[in-house]
Amino acid sequence: MLSQDQIKAQLVYVLKGTNFPWLGEKYEGKIRDNYTKGDRRILIVTDKVSAFDRVLGYIPFKGQVLNQMAKFWFDETKDICGNHAIEFPDPNAVVAKQCKALPVEMVVRGYITGTTSTSAWTHYKNGERNFCGNQLPEGLKKDQKFDYPIITPSTKAEHGDHDESVSPQEILDRNLVTKEQLDFLMSASMALYKKGVEIAAKQGIILVDTKYEFGIAEDGNIILIDEIHTPDSSRFWKTNTYQQNFSAGKEQDNINKEYLRIWLANQGYTGDGPIPEIPEDVICETSRRYIEAFELITGQTFSAGVGDVLSRVEANLKKFK
Ligand SMILES: Nc1ncnc2c1ncn2[C@@H]1O[C@H](COP(=O)(O)OP(=O)(O)OP(=O)(O)O)[C@@H](O)[C@H]1O
Ligand SMILES: [Mg+2]
Repeated sequence: MLSQDQIKAQLVYVLKGTNFPWLGEKYEGKIRDNYTKGDRRILIVTDKVSAFDRVLGYIPFKGQVLNQMAKFWFDETKDICGNHAIEFPDPNAVVAKQCKALPVEMVVRGYITGTTSTSAWTHYKNGERNFCGNQLPEGLKKDQKFDYPIITPSTKAEHGDHDESVSPQEILDRNLVTKEQLDFLMSASMALYKKGVEIAAKQGIILVDTKYEFGIAEDGNIILIDEIHTPDSSRFWKTNTYQQNFSAGKEQDNINKEYLRIWLANQGYTGDGPIPEIPEDVICETSRRYIEAFELITGQTFSAGVGDVLSRVEANLKKFK
């Protein structure tokens, strides 16, 4: 594990963005810079951190953590569902198959939780018992485990818009995907989640919920795209303190970006208006937590790429001119 000083020293080198026109046509997502040329898409994961659908700042090593964690999970799950990854030429970059992204996100939840207005728990607390076509039983408490995982899809909004939770039937009614495609997405998502839960459990971690994106590859197959089981797309709790926290009605020991969300909420920020300035120690603690998440979940030691990330990425991607 890196020391606080090593993390602090990296603050000046955070990867804010890239400009490599020679890699192809650029699309800037909230977190990833995407370059497409023919059937190849290179995704460079920046150190941007987002919450409430907005970019809030930069976290040292976050891009590397996310990219390498996705690599770990792509490897572990490739037998269940094919994915877009071809090679990882840099700790922050992946060369992937360019796909036609399907306009839905598949969210799988094993527990009822969340704090934002769109979260499952907020809906439930407000009396809703049907969540995206799933009939929920009476009497659930916050952070309680469902009897079985549920799928709560959402539409993939255009750049800037907020995603919207929908039922599988609504997906079909809106002609977002075909019935055959939807059946595949549902079963693949459930199988991926179950595999994730199983592997995380061996590490003493609960994979609480997660989100998958899929696309159609050039050969016509539906494969997993974007990222998988990262702290940005998933919630993770520690197994050994779950029951105790649950019984006491306390916040779970989360190892995802909830830390920053909660810090912001404590400053009174819930997504609107100017973003409060995040102090250096909060940024460094967020970084430490991302690295801790990597190590806890993968069981591997994080080998930090210290120093000038931008120059290193550029050098490692030169061969893809
Ligand atoms: N292999 C792929 N083929 C096509 N699109 C992909 C692939 N992998 C990822 N994408 C898309 O590229 C973008 C990745 O960038 P990022 O994750 O930063 O975006 P985002 O902010 O989550 O989403 P968006 O910018 O669409 O709102 C996403 O829009 C994702 O759907
Ligand atoms: Mg994304």
